[in-house]
Amino acid sequence: MNVSKLCLLVAMPAEAKPLIQHFNLVQQDGYFGKLPPLAYTGHYRNIEILVVVNGQDPQHHVDLVGTQPATLAAQVAIERFNPDLIINAGTAGAFARNGSRIGDVYLSHQHFVFHDRRIPIPGWDTYGIGRYPSYDTTALANALGYKQGIITTGNSLDMPAIDEQTINQIGGQVKDMEAAALAWVASLHEVPFFSVKSITDLMDSEKTTQEEFLENLHAASEALKDACFTIIDYIAEGNDI
Ligand code: ADE
Repeated sequence: MNVSKLCLLVAMPAEAKPLIQHFNLVQQDGYFGKLPPLAYTGHYRNIEILVVVNGQDPQHHVDLVGTQPATLAAQVAIERFNPDLIINAGTAGAFARNGSRIGDVYLSHQHFVFHDRRIPIPGWDTYGIGRYPSYDTTALANALGYKQGIITTGNSLDMPAIDEQTINQIGGQVKDMEAAALAWVASLHEVPFFSVKSITDLMDSEKTTQEEFLENLHAASEALKDACFTIIDYIAEGNDI
């Protein structure tokens, strides 16, 4: 794949900050008009980079996490920038029982699923799950030594039993709040898309998810930046992915 325009979609500023600093990106005010997503642009070697962060909710004054802001950010980013490749960079939860550890980096595998869209009517049941494709990250994972996993998306940080049951059924290994929504928009535009996820919390550990997430967000965001840099450097060197 020839990548001269690369878009990184990141939900939270805490996740994006190390990346923005590392690549010396510059914030572009008003890039998306009055909409909340924030744009940071720059170049690395022969690649033009756009990082889009979801922004803040004007009413609640918190970072816009979840699938609606993700859908909006992906749509406006593609419309405005027309990238050759989109990488979703973010943090996520995983499961100790699958051998995951905090700080692990995962690349998306096969497809993205939703675990909280329960519509038990034929046709809509499979729509609910989604299964939107990931760009095949096998070559990248093998070359750079990252794990691969099926990413499962929902709009909650916690995991009630009904969600856990679905996650087990659909083979979800990495749990986030945006990826499947982004993958859906990317698939509509036929833009290659994959995720890089750094693990902040283990859903089957003793601690609460929110406690572990906040405790590990900074370190995981640094690991995320390192992984994104390694991947972008690999692409910029002209390796086929
Ligand atoms: N982001 C980081 N950890 C998460 C989790 N456990 N669930 C959903 N999104 C997350």
